[in-house]
Amino acid sequence: MSKEQQQPASTPAPIIGGGMTLGVIGAGVMGQTLIRGLLSSGLIPREQIWAGDKNGTACDAVSQSLGIFVSSEYQDRIPTADLILICVKPNDAAAVMAALRNAGLRRETLLISILAGVSTDRLESLLGTENPVIRAMPNTPAVVGEGMTAVCRGRFAAKADLLRAQHIFEAVGKCLAIDEIHFNAITALSASGPAYHFLIMEALADAGVRVGLPRQLALTLVAQTALGAARMVLTSGRHPAALRDDVTTPAGCTIGGLLMLEDGRIRSVLARAVEEATRISAHLGAGPARPPEQVSGQRGSH
Ligand SMILES: NC(=O)c1ccc[n+]([C@@H]2O[C@H](COP(=O)([O-])OP(=O)(O)OC[C@H]3O[C@@H](n4cnc5c(N)ncnc54)[C@H](OP(=O)(O)O)[C@@H]3O)[C@@H](O)[C@H]2O)c1
Repeated sequence: MSKEQQQPASTPAPIIGGGMTLGVIGAGVMGQTLIRGLLSSGLIPREQIWAGDKNGTACDAVSQSLGIFVSSEYQDRIPTADLILICVKPNDAAAVMAALRNAGLRRETLLISILAGVSTDRLESLLGTENPVIRAMPNTPAVVGEGMTAVCRGRFAAKADLLRAQHIFEAVGKCLAIDEIHFNAITALSASGPAYHFLIMEALADAGVRVGLPRQLALTLVAQTALGAARMVLTSGRHPAALRDDVTTPAGCTIGGLLMLEDGRIRSVLARAVEEATRISAHLGAGPARPPEQVSGQRGSH
């Protein structure tokens, strides 16, 4: 286990230097999520954040909804940036790195990439400079301040750069420094994780409707129960199996429901889902947009 592993950031460092800016390249789902989270955390003033996106028509709408500069003509902002968050799809990494280099990126500017499957080694070689690079893997609950992010540093990044990245992601949830070797697994577990939980909640809400509950009530019951169960796991320090035993009365209804879940092989289904997502994540940063073999209908980037 490395010294940096699983360490929450302890010393908050300033996010960006005075008079400098924080740029976000790629104002899609994650770019907007992180900007919203950062703005609502109050960590950085609105005037110091800008975003660049290839999609010119979308820029105006995003600019209006976020209240910041968003444009496809963002190149002249790059030299003003002290920190740049790269939030494009993995296959756009090479184009973005070339654009940054050609637009006068300062050698000191910290780059934080959230690209699934793209290693710090690859980012550094695409960039071809000695800028500090941090790889981060956040998730969408960052928009409500409950994100889960893992960070690691590249060859030219110092511990202070890692702390800066942690400070940013702690503004939108939890953030841990983890060895890069685990990043594909983390992508599969916590970056893709919200989608698994949404599916499970949807299915449970449907189940509630099946047994006679109004849909909205069923959804509220399910979501609040998920939130409460998650908080118990995080705060009690007890194993989930022990918490489960506490609510499992002999011959009661809970053990009956659990038996049905085990009959449906819920554990192995979940394990296979994470295994498959880990395998796909490992291919994402490899190059041109081609889904790996055995996978059909892949649409997302993680
Ligand atoms: N979504 C998640 O939950 C999640 C979680 C963790 C990490 N990630 C990672 O976050 C990254 C972004 O995912 P996303 O879901 O936010 O994707 P997205 O919604 O497609 O956003 C990416 C945006 O970047 C734009 N773009 C592409 N090339 C560009 C360039 N050269 N310069 C400026 N903008 C450019 C895209 O424009 P066009 O649409 O016109 O190409 C698009 O608007 C991915 O690498 C993914 O692996 C996502």
